[in-house]
Amino acid sequence: MVRNGIILGIYFIAVAFIPAFGQDCITSKCHADFKKLPILHSPVEDGCDSCHEEMGEHKFSPIPDPIRNLCYQCHDSVEEGKHIHPAITDDGCLSCHNPHGGSNKKLLTEETVAALCFTCHDQDNFNGKHIHGPVEAGECLDCHNPHSSDHPSLLKKVQPALCTDCHSDKDFSDGKRHMHSALEDGCTDCHNPHTSAFQYQLKSKPGKICTACHEDVVKHTNNAKSKHTPAVDERACLNCHNPHGAKNDNNLNQDAPKLCFGCHDKPMTGWGGRPYNVFQVIKNGTTIHPPVEDGECLSCHNPHGSDVNDILTAKYPTHFYAPFGDETYELCFQCHDESLVTVEKAKNDETGFRNGTRNLHFLHVDRKKGRTCRACHEVHASTNPKIIRNTIPFGKWDIPIGFKKTETGGSCSPGCHKTKRYDRVTQTINDPGQPAGSAHSPASANSGKAGGKK
Ligand code: HEC
Ligand code: HEC
Ligand code: HEC
Ligand code: HEC
Ligand code: HEC
Ligand code: HEC
Ligand code: HEC
Ligand code: HEC
Ligand code: HEC
Ligand code: HEC
Ligand code: HEC
Ligand code: HEC
Ligand code: HEC
Repeated sequence: MVRNGIILGIYFIAVAFIPAFGQDCITSKCHADFKKLPILHSPVEDGCDSCHEEMGEHKFSPIPDPIRNLCYQCHDSVEEGKHIHPAITDDGCLSCHNPHGGSNKKLLTEETVAALCFTCHDQDNFNGKHIHGPVEAGECLDCHNPHSSDHPSLLKKVQPALCTDCHSDKDFSDGKRHMHSALEDGCTDCHNPHTSAFQYQLKSKPGKICTACHEDVVKHTNNAKSKHTPAVDERACLNCHNPHGAKNDNNLNQDAPKLCFGCHDKPMTGWGGRPYNVFQVIKNGTTIHPPVEDGECLSCHNPHGSDVNDILTAKYPTHFYAPFGDETYELCFQCHDESLVTVEKAKNDETGFRNGTRNLHFLHVDRKKGRTCRACHEVHASTNPKIIRNTIPFGKWDIPIGFKKTETGGSCSPGCHKTKRYDRVTQTINDPGQPAGSAHSPASANSGKAGGKK
């Protein structure tokens, strides 16, 4: 820098005192075009001999090869970076600069920078449906150094600073946010810096952009037997995750249950084809299942889908009847003790659903043709104590359960049998006995998947 500064200084002093012989070279007959050049390279203005040394009558010393050695007599090297533009090493300075001058700034051989780049780089790669602002404006040099750089692809800076210098309105790195680790490698894993067929110059469809790095999750969502619609639709992962980061863990737009209620505040087709609006059910519930109340939707549902019905995290029957087995109620027994169903005679307080010591859960559930929990309980919330449902779908009829709770027991007046009571302290005489076998059992109409859902 200093060396060349001194050389340039000496040069300027020299041209100030020595009459420029170049004037003689430019006459109306000889080299007249030089006069017409709107922009002249400084040394040309003052003569020709700084580059063409006259060896004899109109004989000049050869231009150094490579030509850049001539340029570097006065200019600092432009090849200091680790990565040098092959245009310089292969084609030389004159592939972009006119040594004498011209009509373009910086002695460029083309009118605009982009036009210059497109003399060697295929312009088609920079056209497309969604062209990045600075590329559209031809500002290649906002991001690239034309000569050399310490960064790959001749970039002026490393990412993400390269991008965030302009995109400073968005907060990509603030510690308060949970930044997506993908951004540690920059932005161009997902965005094409120049152009793309997709909005936001995404490298692929929004719904496919995550596949490159999260193949396992994508495979899971696509292969799950019970698919969660938003995980496999057009926007897919972006329905719930922010690709850059978020305040919430796992880059979630919202935490559950808010995330879920964002969509599940409308009726869906539930059991028996009945409309079911989970948000309303919970909002109106006077008894709410504690994990639901705590917003732990994820302890029972896998947002990416699952091999169990209703994107459940573990087995739970869809039917009114199910043979009792170790895994039938895997979902419930993650948190509840199996003994609430498996002991025939309650010794301690295994369950409150008993007549004296006779376990009525065992009676209803623990058998080959057992009634499932859903026959009596509404898993999210209900307007009865103990999340007992109001009705059971039965064709077009909603069979009432008519549950009444007392201090020491309760009673049911369902459509399937006459009113039966139970009492934990004084075993009642109208023992519910065997409720199965009634011709009007809702199950006889609802065998198969309960209620013809979906
Ligand atoms: C800054 C250095 C520099 C100065 C000053 C300079 N030239 Fe050149 N000139 C060159 C270089 C480099 C080439 C070789 C171009 C090539 O190889 O294509 C060249 C080539 C030429 C050529 C032959 C090729 C062509 O472009 O037609 C002529 C004629 C020429 N110069 C005339 C002049 C005249 C007249 C002056 C003074 C008015 C002048 N030059 C001043 C660098 C210079
Ligand atoms: C004899 C000294 C000398 C030589 C040799 C020389 N230059 Fe220059 N060049 C200058 C001076 C002086 C300026 C004007 C001061 C500045 O901008 O640094 C200049 C300016 C430039 C500019 C900037 C023009 C602008 O509009 O800002 C470019 C580009 C350039 N030179 C390229 C070259 C290239 C390419 C070569 C080799 C082919 C070359 N120079 C050889 C002295 C020289
Ligand atoms: C691929 C095209 C390309 C090649 C090859 C190239 N330059 Fe440049 N050069 C440019 C562009 C474009 C600019 C304008 C930069 C800007 O406006 O910031 C430039 C600017 C310059 C400048 C002016 C710097 C300034 O900051 O104003 C000099 C001096 C220069 N080049 C010298 C050279 C020399 C010497 C070589 C050969 C060793 C060379 N260039 C090769 C494209 C090129
Ligand atoms: C004279 C021909 C030529 C011109 C003009 C030219 N380039 Fe290049 N450029 C090349 C060649 C050759 C390569 C190496 C092969 C390739 O990647 O296409 C290259 C590679 C590149 C690379 C990749 C470098 C790397 O390390 O991977 C970038 C970025 C680039 N050029 C940007 C530009 C920009 C910006 C312009 C306009 C200012 C430009 N080029 C003008 C010839 C040119
Ligand atoms: C917003 C910044 C930005 C702008 C503006 C920009 N580029 Fe790039 N360019 C990049 C980045 C970043 C890469 C490296 C791509 C990667 O890492 O995937 C790149 C890579 C390249 C390459 C290497 C080959 C390739 O496509 O990967 C060339 C050539 C290139 N750019 C030319 C240009 C040209 C010509 C222009 C102007 C028309 C331009 N760039 C404008 C950021 C930019
Ligand atoms: C020189 C400034 C500049 C740089 C550097 C820059 N951008 Fe941009 N970017 C813009 C402008 C201007 C727009 C157009 C804004 C608009 O249309 O609202 C834009 C638009 C975008 C868009 C589309 C946004 C939208 O709302 O449509 C994306 C995505 C983007 N840039 C990503 C990047 C990435 C990735 C990088 C780094 C490789 C980058 N930008 C570097 C200026 C820049
Ligand atoms: C993991 C992939 C990925 C990475 C890495 C990534 N983005 Fe994005 N970006 C996206 C997706 C996907 C969208 C579209 C979001 C949507 O449709 O809601 C987007 C949208 C954008 C937008 C326009 C919409 C908006 O939110 O303003 C800008 C600007 C943007 N990204 C800039 C960047 C910058 C700058 C970086 C690097 C700091 C970056 N992106 C890194 C995937 C990514
Ligand atoms: C370029 C690779 C890459 C792409 C593309 C990518 N990710 Fe990531 N993602 C990572 C890495 C690396 C981690 C951290 C390591 C891990 O947990 O696997 C991560 C972690 C995550 C996490 C866990 C939370 C965190 O930040 O640690 C979520 C959620 C996530 N990514 C979602 C997405 C979504 C949604 C997309 C598509 C919009 C996506 N990722 C695209 C690389 C990527
Ligand atoms: C319906 C909302 C939703 C959709 C759609 C969704 N996710 Fe998630 N994702 C979540 C939630 C909620 C978590 C947190 C899970 C937890 O805490 O157990 C999560 C966690 C993750 C994690 C980190 C934990 C892990 O499983 O590795 C990754 C990575 C991830 N998601 C990627 C994706 C990808 C890729 C897609 C698209 C195929 C996607 N997600 C679609 C809601 C969603
Ligand atoms: C972006 C919207 C959206 C978000 C966010 C969302 N869902 Fe869904 N979910 C849907 C749609 C759409 C369906 C399918 C509706 C239908 O079949 O009528 C669905 C279906 C379901 C189903 C039934 C699946 C089956 O197999 O029948 C369950 C259970 C479910 N979602 C739970 C959740 C939970 C828990 C969350 C929060 C972690 C959540 N959803 C977040 C849109 C969403
Ligand atoms: C204790 C386990 C559990 C918890 C916690 C739970 N669910 Fe469910 N959810 C289920 C079961 C089991 C089903 C299957 C339908 C049924 O049995 O009523 C279901 C079904 C659904 C359905 C589909 C309803 C239909 O009509 O198909 C949605 C939507 C849903 N749950 C959303 C949520 C949301 C949102 C949360 C958190 C506020 C949540 N769930 C918490 C167990 C749970
Ligand atoms: C994530 C843990 C968890 C899962 C899974 C779970 N529960 Fe619960 N459940 C609880 C907790 C905690 C309570 C409150 C303490 C208790 O009664 O054991 C509770 C209470 C209940 C109650 C009594 C409600 C009241 O008002 O007293 C019923 C009925 C119930 N659960 C049924 C079910 C059924 C049916 C399933 C399977 C579909 C299930 N639970 C799965 C945690 C869970
Ligand atoms: C025939 C109806 C019926 C069926 C089927 C049923 N329950 Fe219950 N359950 C009740 C009644 C009634 C209560 C209230 C007992 C009381 O406190 O008076 C109850 C209470 C509960 C309680 C609260 C604690 C307790 O035991 O008192 C849990 C937990 C529970 N049931 C879980 C389940 C699970 C899990 C299933 C399926 C494996 C299931 N229930 C099947 C009727 C039923």
